[in-house]
Amino acid sequence: MAESYAQLLADTAYESPLDLAMVRHFVAELGETSGARLLDAGCGAGRMITFIDAIASFDIEGVDVSSRMVELAQRAHPARRFSIADLKDLPYENAHFDGVLAWYSIIHTPTVELASVLSELHRVLRPGGYALFGFHVGTGERIIRHAYGHDVTLQSQLYDDIAVQDALEDVGFTVAARLRRGPRATEAYPQAFLLARRPL
Ligand SMILES: C[S@@+](CC[C@H](N)C(=O)[O-])C[C@H]1O[C@@H](n2cnc3c(N)ncnc32)[C@H](O)[C@@H]1O
Repeated sequence: MAESYAQLLADTAYESPLDLAMVRHFVAELGETSGARLLDAGCGAGRMITFIDAIASFDIEGVDVSSRMVELAQRAHPARRFSIADLKDLPYENAHFDGVLAWYSIIHTPTVELASVLSELHRVLRPGGYALFGFHVGTGERIIRHAYGHDVTLQSQLYDDIAVQDALEDVGFTVAARLRRGPRATEAYPQAFLLARRPL
């Protein structure tokens, strides 16, 4: 489904100005001209790298478990480095990144695996670094049949934003900001955004 996803979500037109304000705030905390090392964790076809490249000069690298997504992201951003890996087992040194973006990428993580993913993201982030999360709010699973026009059932996990905040704090993050907004337009669920920091 990677091509269909990349075509449907080619840019950030679906995001609300509030959502993007969280990304801008995250970028500002990292320092737009700092050359910060940023990991786009679950980068998909790389549309968030395009957005951040337009507002900051960061050294961005992407990782995704889907080889086809990584291929599309590499094509869109030939000068960037990408890896195929699971968020639970990342191929980076401890404290390698100044920032980690997990934009709608924990939505395929079952609740029993959330702590492993968050603690791996915490491991690769330097003390003082920031991580930004975006996800659909709810309980249980969301099932989409014939996802993106394919004969595929797409299963994703809904998360309560307070529960994610608690999970972040449990693995050592502090939460600097939490935004939860109601559904807009065609959205079925509220959306939440959490800016977390690895303490110094
Ligand atoms: C909804 S897409 C979001 C992609 C991108 N962040 C964006 O906003 O366009 C979710 C992405 O996370 C990736 N993903 C989900 N679980 C993952 C995991 N455990 N490890 C690595 N990537 C994962 C998927 O392959 C997919 O590309």
